[in-house]
Amino acid sequence: MPPQSPYAATLRNVTPRLRETLVITDDDDIIAAIAALPHGHPMAEATEPNEWEFRYLAVRKDHWGHGLGSHLVEAAEGRARNEHAQGMVLRVVDDNPRAIRLYERHGYTHQPHRDISFESSASPGRMINLLLYAKAL
Ligand SMILES: CC(C)(COP(=O)(O)OP(=O)(O)OC[C@H]1O[C@@H](n2cnc3c(N)ncnc32)[C@H](O)[C@@H]1OP(=O)(O)O)[C@@H](O)C(=O)NCCC(=O)NCCS
Repeated sequence: MPPQSPYAATLRNVTPRLRETLVITDDDDIIAAIAALPHGHPMAEATEPNEWEFRYLAVRKDHWGHGLGSHLVEAAEGRARNEHAQGMVLRVVDDNPRAIRLYERHGYTHQPHRDISFESSASPGRMINLLLYAKAL
């Protein structure tokens, strides 16, 4: 992801989701984060009743491949289970095979009828396809 991408700025600004964000730190630095959002939260855009959604999963690139992404997905699921959620959902762009592999390994399955597509505001004419993946908890 280019550093100037609007999504990179959204990832960096966790203020609107502080209470819902789980982080992994290394000394004083945050090296990975995820937000676990209940149905009804203003940032939970893909949930149906009794589902939670995780968003903004990101691991600092020099820490990829050590299980931190997996650990955060499990932590988000644990928080949702504690609140009696029946399912977890997430959206992922169709050109992110690394993230998709992670989700499939954790038991998430693609729900094509819940996918959405829209035109990129940063690159007019380019379509962004967001796939919905879901897992029963
Ligand atoms: C997608 C992303 C979150 C994955 O994070 P990660 O910490 O690298 O994930 P994991 O380490 O759990 O899994 C990645 C790989 O490491 C392997 N792995 C997991 N634990 C491991 C360990 N302890 N030792 C070695 N390898 C390990 C996994 O098997 C996996 O292999 P695969 O890609 O061949 O399937 C990270 O690449 C990222 O931040 N990408 C940019 C932001 C993004 O795309 N976010 C998702 C938006 S929907």
